[in-house]
Amino acid sequence: MPPHDLGAINPFGPIHDPKVRAIIERLHTTRRFPERGGGPRQNHDPEAFADYGFSIHPDQGDLIYLLCRGMGARRVVDFATSVGMSALYFAAAMRDNGGGLVIGSELVAAKVAAARANLTDAGLERYVEIREGDARKTLRDLGGGIDFALIDGWPAPQGPSLAREVIEIVAPQLRVGGYVLNDNAEADFLAFIRDPDNGFISMTLPLKGGTELALKMR
Ligand SMILES: C[S@@+](CC[C@H](N)C(=O)[O-])C[C@H]1O[C@@H](n2cnc3c(N)ncnc32)[C@H](O)[C@@H]1O
Repeated sequence: MPPHDLGAINPFGPIHDPKVRAIIERLHTTRRFPERGGGPRQNHDPEAFADYGFSIHPDQGDLIYLLCRGMGARRVVDFATSVGMSALYFAAAMRDNGGGLVIGSELVAAKVAAARANLTDAGLERYVEIREGDARKTLRDLGGGIDFALIDGWPAPQGPSLAREVIEIVAPQLRVGGYVLNDNAEADFLAFIRDPDNGFISMTLPLKGGTELALKMR
């Protein structure tokens, strides 16, 4: 398999709306990858990658959708939003749960615009509020108990990872019984989520090379 071949979308996934599936398919099949050695781990400026989604895999999205449906989620956090792939799964779950709000966060204005266009094409824009700017500021006040948070961050040049900084902001705002899904297995994020003092239990799922799913217990 070529290094960036992420495989096809599962035709038996839980989202059946053809309009939503079409946008997911479009984002998945047109995703771009930087040249080897030229990605965000080398150049940490998010603006330099305005044309790259770095989106979650549809299998991760299917899991987000299923869990949100099962728990009747109404308020969820999408960090970060990029071009809107993860937001599409969250927003479909909000709509299919009878209503709700996806609070997105994205630093790059061009990506906010792309995400809004993709959500509009899918008919889901009314369920999503994308907060443009640095998530460490925009997610400080989420306005109430959060049911589910995706922590899908960006490499930091030094110091704590963004995933770690954002989970420290979001965790106190997550309700007991709420879920956190993490895409990139940042070591300091995993240390936070696995520290019993922080009130989570978690497991590593074999999706996209290791996806951490955590449940807030207290
Ligand atoms: C891995 S991508 C998110 C992919 C998205 N979840 C999806 O499925 O399409 C990470 C995103 O974080 C954004 N970003 C980087 N630093 C940020 C910050 N401090 N606050 C908010 N967003 C940030 C980047 O521009 C990039 O679009």
